Amino acid sequence: MTKLTVNDRPVEYRMDPQTPLLWALRDASNLTGTKFGCGQGDCGACIVDIDGEALRSCLVTLAEAEGRFVTTIEKLSVDRSHPLQQAFVAAGAVQCGFCTPGMIMAASILLKKNASPTDADIDAAITNICRCGVYPRVRDAIQRAARVMRGEARLSVAPPPGITPEDAAAAVPALRLKKD
Ligand code: FES
Ligand code: FES
Repeated sequence: MTKLTVNDRPVEYRMDPQTPLLWALRDASNLTGTKFGCGQGDCGACIVDIDGEALRSCLVTLAEAEGRFVTTIEKLSVDRSHPLQQAFVAAGAVQCGFCTPGMIMAASILLKKNASPTDADIDAAITNICRCGVYPRVRDAIQRAARVMRGEARLSVAPPPGITPEDAAAAVPALRLKKD
């Protein structure tokens, strides 16, 4: 039994202590926002906040996470209102979206440590891999979020809350549901 705190809740995992934290989060806790990309620490899709550090959960065993505080993308904000989430949408930094949770978690920790990062600071801190190549937009999104969090700017574009599959299909004609 491994005890840790996940998204402010005490959790006990009855899994092999050598299980990567990534799989405990995804398979046991159903926190599927944290993604599996490479499984060897290269891509950053699995980044979560562990005691205030951006760590790759595919490389952290449950035993190593014992007693620690883990925060995943699901807890960053429950309604997608975090400035980083809004800025990623506003800047068009979400393409397929697979890398996005890891990018946002890494960025959230960067902004906690450095409220005014330079582009070089962002490049040094966000080493995640994006197969869609949105790196310039990610940099733009993080700068926008930083301005919002410093109270210097506001974002007018927000993700639509509570979109339903039907609404999503209506917005993308190729996916429109066939009606009898
Ligand atoms: S899945 Fe963990 S770094 Fe790629
Ligand atoms: S948006 Fe597709 S992998 Fe980054």
